[in-house]
Amino acid sequence: MELALTLNGAPRTATIDGRMLLVDALRDTFRCTGPKTGCLTGDCGACTVRLDGRIVKSCLTLAAAVDGAEVRTLEGLAEDGVLTPLQESFWNAHAFQCGYCLSGMLFAAEDLLERNPVPTDDEIREAISGNLCRCTGYDAIVAAVRAVVA
Ligand code: FES
Ligand code: FES
Repeated sequence: MELALTLNGAPRTATIDGRMLLVDALRDTFRCTGPKTGCLTGDCGACTVRLDGRIVKSCLTLAAAVDGAEVRTLEGLAEDGVLTPLQESFWNAHAFQCGYCLSGMLFAAEDLLERNPVPTDDEIREAISGNLCRCTGYDAIVAAVRAVVA
């Protein structure tokens, strides 16, 4: 099928297999490798993107289902090479090591701060709880989000 979407602000089209997962279309067809393939069962959050503003796990979404939609990946966060305050804070707090969880963590934190600009630590932990980090132990991630709030 023909797929047309807006990806990180730019119109993109491709011919895809109708059974293709969104994460595979993003990585293999559109070469956006920010979303990672981890569990492929919706549990780890490594494949997280924003779909028409909503956080979705792209391993649980068919590419065909996003025809006409707006998708934002990790690559779409910084503008003209300028990191967002959250990205800057993650960098400063050493809140990632391998970076595999970064899409899920950053989008979850961004979504939280849009809904709740002054969250408590418990609310930060709740917001990122759908994402698994294999490296950091989570404390640095919470500290990075807290620093943006401050
Ligand atoms: S790869 Fe999608 S949630 Fe783990
Ligand atoms: S930094 Fe490696 S999984 Fe989070």
